[in-house]
Amino acid sequence: MALPLVQDRTQPTPVLRAERLRYVYEGGDEALRGVDLEVHHGRRIALVGANGAGKTTLLLHLNGTLKPTSGVLYIEGEPVEYHRRCLKRLRATVGVVLQNPDDQLFAGAVYQDVSFGPLNLDLDETEVRERVEQALEAMDISGLRHRPTHMLSHGQKKRVAIAGAVAMQPKILVLDEPMAGLDPSGAWQLMGLLKRLNESGTSLIIATHDMSFAYEWAQEVAILSGGTMVAQGPPGGLMNDPATLAHHGLRIPWIVEVSKLLMECGLLPASAMPRTRDELRTALLTLTRRS
Ligand SMILES: Nc1ncnc2c1ncn2[C@@H]1O[C@H](COP(=O)(O)OP(=O)(O)OP(=O)(O)O)[C@@H](O)[C@H]1O
Ligand SMILES: [Mg+2]
Repeated sequence: MALPLVQDRTQPTPVLRAERLRYVYEGGDEALRGVDLEVHHGRRIALVGANGAGKTTLLLHLNGTLKPTSGVLYIEGEPVEYHRRCLKRLRATVGVVLQNPDDQLFAGAVYQDVSFGPLNLDLDETEVRERVEQALEAMDISGLRHRPTHMLSHGQKKRVAIAGAVAMQPKILVLDEPMAGLDPSGAWQLMGLLKRLNESGTSLIIATHDMSFAYEWAQEVAILSGGTMVAQGPPGGLMNDPATLAHHGLRIPWIVEVSKLLMECGLLPASAMPRTRDELRTALLTLTRRS
């Protein structure tokens, strides 16, 4: 029998903790094979893994859409129970934006869709209106407020789905491949919005195939492979190992690849490990000026 995980008492209680989550789809795969995940206040976590690794399945557990076959989800130290009251609390704490907006949107028009969640939080009308207006504005879709959701483009639907989750003002916002389908300005707006949310204390979890984005943006990277959490930690250590990443169907971020190449050629000191294009540029300019 598996022993319970020993909690580090020196750490504050995570907002959300998954302990040995297992999930078997009906008549199908064991998609999660005992996954642990810790989400602390205000963290930025990138969840990476090859197709079919279990990312979406895990994210669907984080707001109780899926109930684990075994294992426990803790919200602020309390185990989640799958009844109405507890799920309501969980969903007010954790907002999930699904990979495909068609799976998320259901109300007739944009405004109704975005206001549905806040209305269910029993907030007064003024507060609901303010939250919805802010969310619409943040995603630049105020002009679409009366539009039927089925008459939107894919990217517009995605913006509405994100606005709906943001209007809930969750402590943790989970986004499943949010950039897919957004145009450059949509992606830019979303990054700005996520930055502001994170600065005001919201924890963010983003499932992504973009390793460079994960490396640059995240404070922690969680690697899923075949339904198992291989590692969760700072990107620096995890993203510099091409062999391990390749073993899990992933590749190192381009900036690590380029930096390693420059180091091999003696053009960058081994101590430099730039995380962003700007850091790489600065390191190269400094060296050029010195020589
Ligand atoms: N509705 C379902 N019914 C049965 N099996 C499913 C279902 N959804 C996913 N699976 C299986 O569960 C496993 C994990 O799938 P999941 O969608 O969580 O992966 P993922 O990491 O999100 O992949 P992707 O990068 O393609 O989005 C896969 O083997 C998949 O075939
Ligand atoms: Mg997925």
